[in-house]
Amino acid sequence: MPTVLEALENRSSKRAFLDKPLTKETQEKILQAASHTPSGANMQPWITYAISNKELLKKVGDAIIETMDKGVEHDQFIQYYPVKWVNPYKKRRVITGAGLYKLMEVDRKDNETRLQMWHDNFRWFGASTVFFVFTDKANIDGAQGALIDCGAYMQSIMLAAQEFGVDTCPQGSTTEFGKIVARELDVPDNLALLYSIVLGYADKDAKINSYQPARVKLQESVTFID
Ligand SMILES: Cc1cc2nc3c(=O)[nH]c(=O)nc-3n(C[C@H](O)[C@H](O)[C@H](O)COP(=O)(O)O)c2cc1C
Repeated sequence: MPTVLEALENRSSKRAFLDKPLTKETQEKILQAASHTPSGANMQPWITYAISNKELLKKVGDAIIETMDKGVEHDQFIQYYPVKWVNPYKKRRVITGAGLYKLMEVDRKDNETRLQMWHDNFRWFGASTVFFVFTDKANIDGAQGALIDCGAYMQSIMLAAQEFGVDTCPQGSTTEFGKIVARELDVPDNLALLYSIVLGYADKDAKINSYQPARVKLQESVTFID
């Protein structure tokens, strides 16, 4: 059983999975553990659709890729990434992306392979299960607190998953097509998609799964005042 520190240090996003399903029992255990996530006023604003149905996942992925093919860049409820990237975040994004392409030996100008790698998000990297996390639109109408709570819930899911040997990749790529996901899953009108997380058993032999982008030194992000 990993300690909390081990779970934090060992987790990394996986992008190639074995064709091995996650049992409903394991999903329930992960979600039960994540339900202990704190939230402002204990409002527990997360609403999760745990989908393992292959046809439905394909339908959602197809709809997103079709939308992208039409040149639509997003159809979303919330804007996840900064509208205007500034440094040092811009630089970190570039370094992280470049590192992945270097590992995979993909040329900077090879737009076709890069697009294919982006499409892999919507094939769920071959994972058997995807958790789509929504909140009630009312929670984010002029307020952002529910986004903080649901972000903490995301990390709880990813850490709890490790206890069961389950690997994950969080996805903001689906955030960008949240309205397509909501339509294809036929969720109630009051729900807005925030993100998804793919879950499954990582293919340990897949090169892409060895990618572990570095973190900045503590001094770059922390100010101590004694
Ligand atoms: C909210 C959020 C959205 C993300 N969206 C994607 C995504 O759409 N596709 C993807 O491959 N990785 C995605 N990631 C994974 C990040 O690229 C990854 O967490 C980061 O590079 C650090 O690497 P690590 O998770 O392996 O430690 C996302 C991460 C977060 C937290």
